[in-house]
Amino acid sequence: MATQLSVNHLLGIKELTPGDIELIFNTADNFKDVINRPIKKVPSLRDTTVSNLFFENSTRTRLSFELAEKRLSADIINFSSSSSSLNKGESLLDTVKNILAMKVDIIVMRHPKPGAAVFLSKHIDAKIINAGDGTHEHPSQALLDAYSIREKLGRIKGVKVAIVGDIMHSRVALSNILCLKKLGAEVMVCGPKTLIPKHIESLGVKVETDLRKALGWCDVANMLRIQLERQDQQYFPSIREYVMLYGVNKKLLDSINKNIVVMHPGPINRGVEVTSDVADSKQSIILDQVENGVAIRMAILYLIAGKGEN
Ligand code: CP
Repeated sequence: MATQLSVNHLLGIKELTPGDIELIFNTADNFKDVINRPIKKVPSLRDTTVSNLFFENSTRTRLSFELAEKRLSADIINFSSSSSSLNKGESLLDTVKNILAMKVDIIVMRHPKPGAAVFLSKHIDAKIINAGDGTHEHPSQALLDAYSIREKLGRIKGVKVAIVGDIMHSRVALSNILCLKKLGAEVMVCGPKTLIPKHIESLGVKVETDLRKALGWCDVANMLRIQLERQDQQYFPSIREYVMLYGVNKKLLDSINKNIVVMHPGPINRGVEVTSDVADSKQSIILDQVENGVAIRMAILYLIAGKGEN
């Protein structure tokens, strides 16, 4: 079993090996024990400075990374684009170079443009963790999702996962597909044809437009939000019609004769992709995902900082 990642940055799941993912999970297991102790802090990143750069809105990812950094005793500086000099015309590269001049070791960045994290990794001398780049990848979300499936079902290999909703505009969908496939899960995407990218089968996934059939097939349903902010045109007639065809309510869930695990990366639009009685049901592991996010992000930070054993 490797004790170091094969990558210097976490830019996407695409660059990770299955061994890297196992290492992140095993490291997260240890950190999950730590964060359930009365004293939740360890000195692992005591001499490391992390900058959280968020050029796009976030609740879970930003707070989860920040808490993970605090639990590891890192020094932290936070940056939010809405209150920065970007509004005065400063470029991404100049912004980051100025932040690096303050001797930052790791940058955690969310950005609306696909490829922003890769771009930074090629131009600056710090470790980069991609916290979501446009419609491209959201690797820490996929890792915490797969980790939560492993925790709930005891395995990932052979588990059938349906990813339901706006596949086209979702970075969570792509990162989940790549991660789950690397770990041997079977993956199906389900949604309106207009929200499923052409040729997605080339990633080794099944495609289904009938929600009831997808639910009948899967062990786990990962329900995704409609990303209206990324849609440049209308992909379905109305939200009402979308809910009728692709929303999961308790009646539908109960009519499927199996105990499907329900997931959602958040933020949830209650009454659209899932109703409240599904989101808050015993079958939902949505808040377990959030809890696991801290342990997974502690593991990512620790390993990207090069603190794995030699
Ligand atoms: N799941 C997720 O990325 O949520 P936030 O946008 O709140 O970070």
